[in-house]
Amino acid sequence: MGGERKRSSKPLVLVASPFQGHMTPMLQLGSVLHSNGFSITFAHTKLNSPDPSNHPEFLFLPLSDNFSAIDASANYTKFLEALNNNCKTQLQDHLSRKIKDEMNHTITVIHDNIMYFAEEVASNLNLPSIVLRSCSASYMPAFLSLSYLHAKGQLPVRDSMMEELVPDLHPLRYKDLPFHSTPTEVATEMLALAERIRTPSAIIWNTMDFLENSALTQLQEHYKIPIFSIGPLNQMARCPSTSFLEEDTGCISWLDKQAPRSVIYVSLGSLATMDETELAETAWGLAKSQQPFLWVVRPGSVSGSEWIEFLPEGFMEEVRGTGVVLKWAPQKQVLAHSAVGGFWSHCGWNSTLESITEGVPMICQPVMGDQCVNSRYLSYVWGVGLELEILERKVVESAIRRLLVDVEGEEMRRRANSMKEKAKCCMCKGGSSFNSLQELVELITLSD
Ligand code: UDX
Repeated sequence: MGGERKRSSKPLVLVASPFQGHMTPMLQLGSVLHSNGFSITFAHTKLNSPDPSNHPEFLFLPLSDNFSAIDASANYTKFLEALNNNCKTQLQDHLSRKIKDEMNHTITVIHDNIMYFAEEVASNLNLPSIVLRSCSASYMPAFLSLSYLHAKGQLPVRDSMMEELVPDLHPLRYKDLPFHSTPTEVATEMLALAERIRTPSAIIWNTMDFLENSALTQLQEHYKIPIFSIGPLNQMARCPSTSFLEEDTGCISWLDKQAPRSVIYVSLGSLATMDETELAETAWGLAKSQQPFLWVVRPGSVSGSEWIEFLPEGFMEEVRGTGVVLKWAPQKQVLAHSAVGGFWSHCGWNSTLESITEGVPMICQPVMGDQCVNSRYLSYVWGVGLELEILERKVVESAIRRLLVDVEGEEMRRRANSMKEKAKCCMCKGGSSFNSLQELVELITLSD
């Protein structure tokens, strides 16, 4: 009993980043850890702050970051540097006060990998820190290879090399590498950024052993600290909405009227942008496929426009009744709906996990970062995705029909359903993610 009571109030301070794809798994992790008896302080930037009313169980700590928006065209590493600098003193002050209040407990800091200032603060105060990684584990060996490729003068990768396999990174091709076309100076900055995290006591990965066993083993050898694969967090946590944008829930009643597994759901996540031509090719590809569609066009995601002003003339009339265009969807609900037969995605890691844990096969159109690696695994290794080689209406039409109508798509759906079942097993008592979570709880508890 006494031990239980002690564990129940053990304090964790979670430090989240202002990106949607990072915020969501951090909130989910907070919920999972709270239900395992920890008290949660959720530190976040004022930019893109979570809605506290969705998490009455957390104490929220807003940090002034001095940003009013994320400028996608700005230098990413400079943005991160300023963000980290601006938040550091506030967290340090808060933790110094909290240490005095928590006489009986050691506070553990769990931070997003891009919020590296949290590790420096924890280290200054002699507190243990743990990193949460919200990308796939398979991305990391590719990322870590950058310094080697850089030293060999292979970055940016020459066009003639793109289709070739990268030695020692099977099954990745050069074109699947993150930053394959990035100028050398930027790649160097990105690598320097990764070096900012030096002394975490553990790493948490939102993944499952059966899915990424080989990458997890490599990472274990590389980092030499405990790695906890605790996923899929989207299924492990019962979180209300974690969206920054308002979810258009009206689409669910539209889905209710569609035939089972007939709808293609389209979303390129929270950051990707497209130009007017890409918008038109997407639009006509959807129309020509003659399948019902639910298409998320995020406001501001089409260069030079507010929302869908650049949709081709006649498109809305042509698809009236068969398609819906919306600003932001309740994605997890959409993917869980029986009418959805496929997901055309940028392959962000959250979207990937949300799709495969609902047994929904994918059309893969990666845009940046880990998405190319995820796309390669989805299509080539796990057999649940089709690579969209080029964004042209005929190719789009054919990909949608292959996924929703052809036997090929049926086979992918069967494999996706088998992954869904395996994911459930991971979370059950004795499953890999269940066990990993228990080990993490133990590690944190022992730090007292
Ligand atoms: C970014 C990176 O691009 C990605 O590769 C990395 O793994 C995490 O951060 P992002 O573009 O945010 O990803 O995509 P993703 O990881 O898929 O996260 C998007 C989240 O927004 C998902 O949880 C998804 O459910 C949600 N979403 C998206 C909605 O709720 N509604 C939408 O309409 C679109």
